[in-house]
Amino acid sequence: MKKEMMKLLVSHEIFTEEEATKLDSINEETIEKAIKELGFGKTEHITKEKISEFLETEKIGKDILCFRKVFSTNSISKFLANHGAEEGTILVSEIQTNARGRSGKKWEAPEGGVWMSMILRPDVPPAKIGLITLATGVAIAKAIRSLDVDAKIKWPNDVLIKGNKISGVLTEVNATFNQIEYVVVGVGIDSNLKLEDFSEDIRIGTTTLTEEAPTKVDENELIGIFLNEFEKVYDIYLNGDIEDILTEWRALSDTIGKYVNITQTGGHMTQGYVVGINNEGSLILERQDGTLEKIISGELRTI
Ligand code: BTN
Repeated sequence: MKKEMMKLLVSHEIFTEEEATKLDSINEETIEKAIKELGFGKTEHITKEKISEFLETEKIGKDILCFRKVFSTNSISKFLANHGAEEGTILVSEIQTNARGRSGKKWEAPEGGVWMSMILRPDVPPAKIGLITLATGVAIAKAIRSLDVDAKIKWPNDVLIKGNKISGVLTEVNATFNQIEYVVVGVGIDSNLKLEDFSEDIRIGTTTLTEEAPTKVDENELIGIFLNEFEKVYDIYLNGDIEDILTEWRALSDTIGKYVNITQTGGHMTQGYVVGINNEGSLILERQDGTLEKIISGELRTI
């Protein structure tokens, strides 16, 4: 394999330097194929075949790549999307060693969770991307609720059970000023994990399906159910029926009607009562003086 290609794979955090040197035998022409074939070892319980048993989708999950261990499924997905991977390609890894959360935070992704990314190429203006993230939150909450667990959404897209976080979404976009090249939507669900599997500082405020669900969850099934739910909501999004998504989001919301503190991107703090979300997915806050404020992005804490 060419030196430049190896450098690229390492810089995209797809392989460590040591692993990249093992790629010599792989067909140079198609990196995508190399990643598919070599991956990071054989998975132990998540497979394309098992996920497909539960799939009822047309385009989401047309191609599913499963890895044992990667740095970050979002990083690989961005790399593949840059090399032409199609809309609906899904990447799953049983373990992530360098996963990323929102606001530049690290995301712990040990064995037992659902860690996956979806490559999308929606033909919509870049301003509409925030709604994909909301739609993803709806699909995750519905998938978890199908397991008999009362999942709710905290704006913009954390999924909570009894106020504790069980899932998060990291959306990364490659777009010019008026055209989306691709969107990578990363989804993490703390499924077959115990609180002890996480470092002590994140245990408070976190929960898992092992702690909350009545029976053990099959990760392949959960991924399948989620992808089915996602395709439904994504089709609604592509058809422009935004109000339908917002109605579902509002019905599942754990945020509307609460008093909150918000740290906006850039550090600005705001406090107020959450009146609702508008049709761009922005939060509408009523401040103490009665004025309304639109919040596009930020970290929210219930008071
Ligand atoms: C959050 O901060 O709430 C977002 C967490 C997103 C984590 C997922 S796990 C799969 C995908 N790959 C990553 O590196 N991050 C996302």
